[in-house]
Amino acid sequence: MLTWKKNNNTMHTPLVARCLRGLEAVVAAEVHGSGLGAVTDLRHREVHFRSHRPTPPLRTADDVFLLAAQRPDIGTTRQRLHELTELAHLADAHHLLSLRHSATASARGITGIDVSASYLGRRTFTRYDAEDVVGQALARRLGVPYHSRRAGTAPPPGCCGWRLTLDGTRATLMLRVDDRPLHRRAYKQRTIPGTLHPPLAAAMAVLADIRPDHAVLDPCCGAGTLLIEAALAQPDARFHGFDLSADAVTAARANAGELPVAIRRSDAGRLPLPDDSVDRVLCNPPWGTQVHARGLLATAPSRWWTELRRVLTPEGTAVLLLPDREDLTTAIRHHFTPVHMQRLRLSGTQPFLVHLALTAAGRSRASRQLLEGEGPVRSGPGPGAGRGGGEHRRLQRQHPRTSSNRH
Ligand SMILES: C[S@@+](CC[C@H](N)C(=O)[O-])C[C@H]1O[C@@H](n2cnc3c(N)ncnc32)[C@H](O)[C@@H]1O
Repeated sequence: MLTWKKNNNTMHTPLVARCLRGLEAVVAAEVHGSGLGAVTDLRHREVHFRSHRPTPPLRTADDVFLLAAQRPDIGTTRQRLHELTELAHLADAHHLLSLRHSATASARGITGIDVSASYLGRRTFTRYDAEDVVGQALARRLGVPYHSRRAGTAPPPGCCGWRLTLDGTRATLMLRVDDRPLHRRAYKQRTIPGTLHPPLAAAMAVLADIRPDHAVLDPCCGAGTLLIEAALAQPDARFHGFDLSADAVTAARANAGELPVAIRRSDAGRLPLPDDSVDRVLCNPPWGTQVHARGLLATAPSRWWTELRRVLTPEGTAVLLLPDREDLTTAIRHHFTPVHMQRLRLSGTQPFLVHLALTAAGRSRASRQLLEGEGPVRSGPGPGAGRGGGEHRRLQRQHPRTSSNRH
């Protein structure tokens, strides 16, 4: 079923990028915008495309697979499970494995088959039933053992990972290209509770449209995922992260390494930044069930919004991950307006990915201060704090090796 298309002597491989529900369009835009290939289909958590690179460096996708085979979905009952063996027969398995072998240095010969399945809707079979049918058929074809996930044990080293999805219309079989899923980032050596999924952080950075001269803020930066993903995409901007937790500050600094990201310990309810000094805010604030607001925000969460409004330039925008609709109402009450909104599915929750701009009323406050040359007297000591208006309010570029903030 693997088909090839010759185009200017270049082989274009059919690939599938898997992503969070709600990010399909962002991933498709990354595939298209970065010239990695041509999008051929958008499905539930899947972007199908053809690329000349079998391992495209997508940052907003969870993983990339070689498309192996497709057929109609088998429906909801276990009686038709055996029909899934057709996928193993349709797949040009040896050819797919040689493609994987040439794309990934680590994929030297395989010792077994491992299948991970997921489906939409209720079925009278489990994911393990579907995995076993396809895995055993693939193992017979390739003459290697099948490792079932039923017992919850990790597949032995050398197993090649296959992915099966049933979306109600189609059954799709894919082969993982790399041993390591794309969403695992080498920089993320330290973590904290509630840390963000890196592809989602990358997608938020894309939506923020960060320019080289921008000052970018995460007032509750945790392990620094948002700022790090943003700095990797736009290293010429200036990045400032704050967190009240000393552990989070340590983790973010370690993860950021040599990237131009300055991390300091501070309460997001009283940021040590001048008024109108930030062009972009990226944040998933501590409003969830996993992480609670502490410090000033524990008793006065609205301070988060007043500080955001204070530090943003009149044209500044914020890309936020907000757990529920009530947070949007709060944002609107604080003179923000949503310019883009997308509901996501994330670890059993359905948060909103929101792009906010200041309303005319929100902007006029900032503009008035600039015109009157009011100093940022409310802010504490910080980069550029207390220096008056105009260009002096701009946050200075912070480099980890020279910034005293990191000590
Ligand atoms: C959901 S986590 C952020 C995760 C982060 N985006 C990451 O990828 O690791 C929220 C963070 O808010 C921090 N926090 C809670 N109250 C705070 C406050 N008053 N000021 C600053 N940070 C605060 C917590 O310590 C936590 O690190």
